[in-house]
Amino acid sequence: MHLVVGATGRLGGAVATHLLARGERVRVLVRPRDPDRDQVRALTPERLLALGAELVEGDLTRPDTVARALEGVRRVLSTASATKRAGHGTLETVDTKGTDTLARAARTAGVRQFVYVSAHLADPDGTRPVLREKGLAERAIAASGVPATVLRPTKFMQDWIGALLVRQLRESDSAGAARVQLVGSGDVPASFVDEDDVAALAVAVLARDETIGETLTLATEVDTYRGLVERIQRLAGTTFALESVAVGERVTTLEGPLAATVTALLTSVATSPPDTVTTPDVAARFGLRSTGIDAFLRRSLAG
Ligand SMILES: NC(=O)c1ccc[n+]([C@@H]2O[C@H](COP(=O)([O-])OP(=O)(O)OC[C@H]3O[C@@H](n4cnc5c(N)ncnc54)[C@H](OP(=O)(O)O)[C@@H]3O)[C@@H](O)[C@H]2O)c1
Repeated sequence: MHLVVGATGRLGGAVATHLLARGERVRVLVRPRDPDRDQVRALTPERLLALGAELVEGDLTRPDTVARALEGVRRVLSTASATKRAGHGTLETVDTKGTDTLARAARTAGVRQFVYVSAHLADPDGTRPVLREKGLAERAIAASGVPATVLRPTKFMQDWIGALLVRQLRESDSAGAARVQLVGSGDVPASFVDEDDVAALAVAVLARDETIGETLTLATEVDTYRGLVERIQRLAGTTFALESVAVGERVTTLEGPLAATVTALLTSVATSPPDTVTTPDVAARFGLRSTGIDAFLRRSLAG
């Protein structure tokens, strides 16, 4: 039996779906229904049930529910995170303390493999909150003694290209003036991976004991944001305005909380060191498809 924590989210949902499709027994730990949560869920608990999953209601911030969910479980995958779930836990209570709770309970339950989705550049001593909490989570997993495989994907194309650039373009186009805004010059290289390839890697390592003890980075392609905008213009066969707002200013192509989120992410890109990592060796080892940025963009521009 596999336990997937995070199956109502995008990555965990994809992994649970793949595992069920190949005939594995999958239990999913899901938080109780909530109207706010339901709005952002990639898969509903009802959908997971219909796909053949066994549902257990629980919450990583409630240790009693975690121990119960682990009964009879051989392998655990956790993608659980508060990053996109503001108001329902924090990076500290979910990503770090919740992962610590899950890892220690998995060790007590005699789980054979714990697969954790962390992030590239996770660092317990770092200054960026997400990367620090992921680094602390990795440290807690190691301290728990549970046999673990850690995955460290770089930026998901769906979030960092689709939601930041393609969405800006669509919304500004429907408002009558197609344009994309970047924070800063847009010249800092960043590394990207398609979320579906991360799901495929997670499914692959769940079947391979030899990955226990490994930390695997997954990164497909590098570009700057200015370069990404040029690709979109080429692939969409259209030109649109590219504008730059200063660090500390807000993008004006979007409204409300979305504008704040997009500004925060673009600011983080503008103020991060260059990241040029790619991992063709990992893709080759696990036979991953490795969707490139152009292929991802063609799909999202058509969708
Ligand atoms: N986006 C990126 O570029 C990127 C890059 C590297 C790594 N990652 C990591 O990849 C992972 C998966 O991302 P994603 O896009 O699939 O995230 P997501 O869609 O936001 O899914 C998060 C999942 O965690 C669950 N969760 C949150 N708090 C919980 C708690 N207290 N107890 C139990 N479950 C809880 C959520 O359940 P509810 O439905 O109940 O809220 C949801 O199923 C995350 O850990 C993220 O940090 C992301």
